[in-house]
Amino acid sequence: MKFFVDTADLAEICDLAATGLLDGVTTNPSLVAKSGRNFLDLVAQICEVVKGPVSAEVAATDFDTMLAEGRFLAGIAPNIAVKVPLTPAGLKVCKALSSDGRQVNVTLCFSAAQAILAAKAGAAFVSPFVGRLDDIGQDGMGLIAEICQIYRNYPEFHTEVLVASVRHPVHVVAAAKLGAHVATVPPAVLRQLFNHPLTDKGLAQFVADWQKTGQTILDNKRS
Ligand code: G3P
Repeated sequence: MKFFVDTADLAEICDLAATGLLDGVTTNPSLVAKSGRNFLDLVAQICEVVKGPVSAEVAATDFDTMLAEGRFLAGIAPNIAVKVPLTPAGLKVCKALSSDGRQVNVTLCFSAAQAILAAKAGAAFVSPFVGRLDDIGQDGMGLIAEICQIYRNYPEFHTEVLVASVRHPVHVVAAAKLGAHVATVPPAVLRQLFNHPLTDKGLAQFVADWQKTGQTILDNKRS
C-alpha cells in the first residue's frame, strides 16, 4: 500500500519525506489557499522533495481551460499527477491527458458509478472521499470496498484507488484490508500511525532495564 500525504505545507512534506515512508503528495485548492503560497512555486518545490506522484489540481471547470491548465501543470515536473474533478468535462480532460501519457487523478468521487467512469477515462488514480461520505451518514469505506471489487473484475482497468478525505488511522487500516492501492493521509493522521501507548510503555521499560546492565553496545567490550 502506498502512502501519500494530503497537504500543501512544504515543511510537513519535508519532515514526512525524511521518514522514507512517503510515496507521493496530494494537494487541492483549499490546501493551497491555507498554505498562502504561490501554487506553481509550491508544486515545483514539492516535486523536488518527493519523487512519487504529486497531485496538482486544475482551477477551471470548463474543458478547454482545464485541458490547458492540466498541460501547463504537467509541464512543471515529470511526477505531476494532474487532478481534475469528476465531471463530464473533467473526465474528457482526463481522457485527453491520459492519452498523452500524463498521470491524472480524478477527484471528488462519491459513487461506484463515478469510479467506473474515471477508470474508463484512463485515470491513473481515482479519489473517493471517505470522510466526507461518513460526515453525511453514508459509508465511506463501503464505497472503497465496492470500487476495489469492481476494478478487480476488469483487468483492463489500470486506475489505482486513492482513498482520500481520510480522518483517522482506522480509515487507513480499513483501506489496506480492502486492498486499496493508496491512502492520502493528513500529516497528523500519518504521524498517529506510528503510535501505540504499549510501544511507549514497553520501550521505557527496555531502556530502564538496559541501564541496569551497565553495558553499552558500541564500546564493544566483550567478555
Ligand atoms: O485532497 C482531497 C481530500 O483528501 C480532502 O479531504 O478532509 O477536505 O475532506 P477533506
